[in-house]
Amino acid sequence: MDRMIGMFAAKGFSIQEMVSLVGGGHTIGFVHCTEFGHRIFGKTVDPSINPKLVEGLKKICANYLQNQALSAFLDVMSPGVFDNTIFKNLQKGLGVMSSDQLMFLDPRTKPFVDKYAADGKAFFNDFAKAMEKMSVYGVKTGRQGEVRKRCDAVNAA
Ligand code: HEM
Repeated sequence: MDRMIGMFAAKGFSIQEMVSLVGGGHTIGFVHCTEFGHRIFGKTVDPSINPKLVEGLKKICANYLQNQALSAFLDVMSPGVFDNTIFKNLQKGLGVMSSDQLMFLDPRTKPFVDKYAADGKAFFNDFAKAMEKMSVYGVKTGRQGEVRKRCDAVNAA
């Protein structure tokens, strides 16, 4: 959490903005088992993760070392809906990624997780503002940078 807070702070984002952005980003989409397998298949299971979720994820990811495409939804309760369920999940230990779950465990971020879990309107409002701020951060214009063909890699020369 120190690293997460530090990285967002270095770009001028507050802890509140970080929680709204990360939770908001992860209310849709999925994560590969390779990213969180250590939480459920290690010698000791991560104690912050709900045992029911561990059971479910173990089934989904059973073969993940052989099949690295295996993935789980980030918001296990409402994966296809943009809403504040992800924050309610975190309160119940239902965060799939440890960096998401940590936001409920750290006293610096927990108040915002609780606020957004209780108040969907506050979440939508704060998320919209933070997204707007992020969308104009360090924007490159003219001949600077490039429009990527794949979002996760720079274009080949
Ligand atoms: C500390 C901050 C963050 C970390 C560590 C993080 C990490 C990750 C990881 C590991 C994945 C899964 C990737 C995969 O397995 O392919 C993921 C997925 C995703 N993240 Fe984040 N993320 C962060 C912040 C954000 C923010 C700020 C947004 C947007 C506002 C966002 C939006 C998404 C989305 C939409 C997906 C799902 C992608 C898909 O389904 O293809 N994330 N994130």
